[in-house]
Amino acid sequence: MLDQINKTRSDRSYDGANWNEHEDKFTQTFYEQNLSQFWRPEDISLQPDLNLWASLSPEIKLAYAQNLVVLTFLDTYQGDIGMPVVSRSIAPEYHQRKAVLNFMAAMENAVHAKSYSNIFMTYMSNDDIEDLFAWGQDNKNMQNILALIVGYYENLDRLNYKRQYQGLDGDVSDYEYNVAQWKAMVASVFLESCLFYSGFYYPLYFYGQGKLMQAGEIINLILRDESIHGLYIGNLAMELYREFDEKTQKELYEWLTTYLDEIYQEEVELIEFIYDPVDLSHDVKIFVRYNANKAMMNLGFDPYFEYEEVNPVVLNGLNTETKTMDNFSMKGNGYQKMKSESLMDNDFYFDAPRIKR
Ligand SMILES: [Fe+2]
Ligand SMILES: [Fe+2]
Repeated sequence: MLDQINKTRSDRSYDGANWNEHEDKFTQTFYEQNLSQFWRPEDISLQPDLNLWASLSPEIKLAYAQNLVVLTFLDTYQGDIGMPVVSRSIAPEYHQRKAVLNFMAAMENAVHAKSYSNIFMTYMSNDDIEDLFAWGQDNKNMQNILALIVGYYENLDRLNYKRQYQGLDGDVSDYEYNVAQWKAMVASVFLESCLFYSGFYYPLYFYGQGKLMQAGEIINLILRDESIHGLYIGNLAMELYREFDEKTQKELYEWLTTYLDEIYQEEVELIEFIYDPVDLSHDVKIFVRYNANKAMMNLGFDPYFEYEEVNPVVLNGLNTETKTMDNFSMKGNGYQKMKSESLMDNDFYFDAPRIKR
């Protein structure tokens, strides 16, 4: 029976994750960072936002809610397939890398997408929520953006299975596989470090003015996660890119800029659809170009768009360094999970000097 199960993997030797040895120079640092900033959707109560929400015009409410739908859809697929497929594509011996990617995968849908739903459930009726999700499913640009991202994830998924179980579907060359893996990582970094930001803009715009602060806190916590996700996958992508010969590197860079143009075009139309009614499209496009440049840098390249000044109100909302938090009403993104160590007998001898072992 086992022979049959393993017939395509007869030379296989199973091993375990040994955290005593670093797999590379950066993964354990990202591991620490990811776990130290863990949070749960229910950590933040949204009730204090309700009065302000009720005072907003229907156009503003709609733009705000549509942005959260965009964010929800992106986070959903990043959790369902984006992160898991990149994790599966990592060579089997890199157990720590897989653990970091799997942890990030769990955050995307179970924490981030769930948090957007908590905002919907607090601010809106069931019928309104249903209409919003239906809007996302019908919106051409939203669907095109997802197809542009998820298509590369699915391609890598297909090759992962082919490669792992070659008996099923023929060989996959290293070249074909590595290109597919790198492109999926590029799609992932664009999603994490650029596409999210058109949706983040509006909550940050309110937050920067001291409005809808609880929802703004959630956005800041998500943003803090996404920024290390983009950096981590960017690191993996850079490592892979350096392995390609010069000619391939040139071709891949060409592909990258075409891909960015294509995504950006869809993004521009989506931004105009959502933000024209509240007169903010111009500023949001600047913000997205600013973040597209950050995505390029995460992938190891120079900025693609000209440098432009971002709306200072949004930068104020983005400034995560200087917040002072009231821990009874807000968790705040300055919140760090407590570092703990096991209690020992001598922790309870209060008179004797404590000896650290
Ligand atoms: Fe996410
Ligand atoms: Fe993410």
